[in-house]
Amino acid sequence: MKLAVIGTGYVGLVSGVCFAELGNEVICVDNVKAKIERLNNGEVPIYEPGLKELMTRNIEAGRLAFTSDLAAAVNRSEIIIIAVGTPSLPNGEANLSFIEKVAEEIGQEIHDYKVIVVKSTVPVGTNEKVAAIIEQHASVPFDFASVPEFLREGTAVSDTLKPDRIIIGTESEKAAQTLQELHSPLTERIIITDVRSAEMIKYASNAFLATKISFINEIANICEKVGANVEEVAGGMGLDHRIGSSFLRAGIGYGGSCFPKDTQALIQIAGHVNYDFKLLKSVVEVNRDQRFNVIHKLESILGELEGKTIAIWGLAFKPETDDVRDAPAFEIISALLDKGAVVKAYDPIAAHNFNQSFCRSGIVYCESAEEAALHADALCLLTEWKQFKQISLQEIQKWLRSPNLIDGRNMYSEEQLVGTDFVYYSVGRPSLNRGVREQIPLVSL
Ligand code: UDX
Repeated sequence: MKLAVIGTGYVGLVSGVCFAELGNEVICVDNVKAKIERLNNGEVPIYEPGLKELMTRNIEAGRLAFTSDLAAAVNRSEIIIIAVGTPSLPNGEANLSFIEKVAEEIGQEIHDYKVIVVKSTVPVGTNEKVAAIIEQHASVPFDFASVPEFLREGTAVSDTLKPDRIIIGTESEKAAQTLQELHSPLTERIIITDVRSAEMIKYASNAFLATKISFINEIANICEKVGANVEEVAGGMGLDHRIGSSFLRAGIGYGGSCFPKDTQALIQIAGHVNYDFKLLKSVVEVNRDQRFNVIHKLESILGELEGKTIAIWGLAFKPETDDVRDAPAFEIISALLDKGAVVKAYDPIAAHNFNQSFCRSGIVYCESAEEAALHADALCLLTEWKQFKQISLQEIQKWLRSPNLIDGRNMYSEEQLVGTDFVYYSVGRPSLNRGVREQIPLVSL
């Protein structure tokens, strides 16, 4: 099939490349000309394992191309996929100006029947508005569908090629059939729904996963006080197939381009229909508070942080990505700087992006994990990059001025701590705490 994908962000680029890999002829469109030039040269603007190889292979096979000429791309394609960004406005609502503009342009440019698909995450009811904008400008018939995207950064290629399910929200049988055909090589689990339910499935899925994370983080906080181990608790809970074991890793809370934005947007969507989504509001609040536990733990070890040197390992919101959007590191480092600490930070690939988005000076960006840790008063691990786990705690202890470690991702095990003098805090595992037990006494039951 011939496809045009509008928007070469995470979702658009990965989807375009993967559809080409399935044998379709794909042209990806973006209005940033410099980006198109780089893409045509085989340069991948995002860090995503496996994407570059796949992209190069499909460009060479003549199945994948990039352009800033929306009209030409739209006219040669049977299916048009809209995957432009819907970033949060200051009030938490999704900014729809990009998608509305693209809808207008598509409407003006189509000259024969097309199936138009929205992959961007948009509030319930927006897809109908987008269809109405296209209709206003189009002189030919078209069909319309919402096909939400569930890919995760870091595993985007495999998530796209092996999805758990494909949701197609459309009122048109013809569009449903075409899109079923397009997606059938990916999975047998293709669900056809109405447009609004498809939009809601995306928000409800992300909100539910965010809820799981905040839930386990609160359980972890209670575990710290009652002397239970959150990993044992999550393991025991997860064996119940109704609960499932994924997304029960306690830590410093979720970040990224989706969960923070989509939870806020769903709260707003509910608000617009006078529904107070109390549970989701608490999920967001718990997530915000969770990151500051790192600071409380540091203070319980070091007292005043003024003048103390704190090493930060990990700036990305999760490993295997250079994305720092809504990463917990922003608020943690801001709080440290506010308290007068000296911050030395290292991330294998996300430091540049972090530096670009962090509007404050005062961080010393380091070239290696060792350089960041050297002579620091404490080390905080904020992203669980594999390479950090490979460094022995004995080695880390040698680098630090004082062996203080806040493990925000429960990366180190009891065995790794043996033979070290670490004062150690992780999340919800009080039995692993070292050297500070007297400062956080368990609550007697
Ligand atoms: C998420 C959804 O998983 C995906 O379906 C959607 O399309 C986009 O949003 P992504 O943001 O790439 O994907 O990352 P994900 O792996 O889901 O992690 C999100 C955040 O939750 C990260 O900050 C991660 O560290 C955190 N997390 C995840 C936890 O703290 N604990 C967990 O158990 C799982």
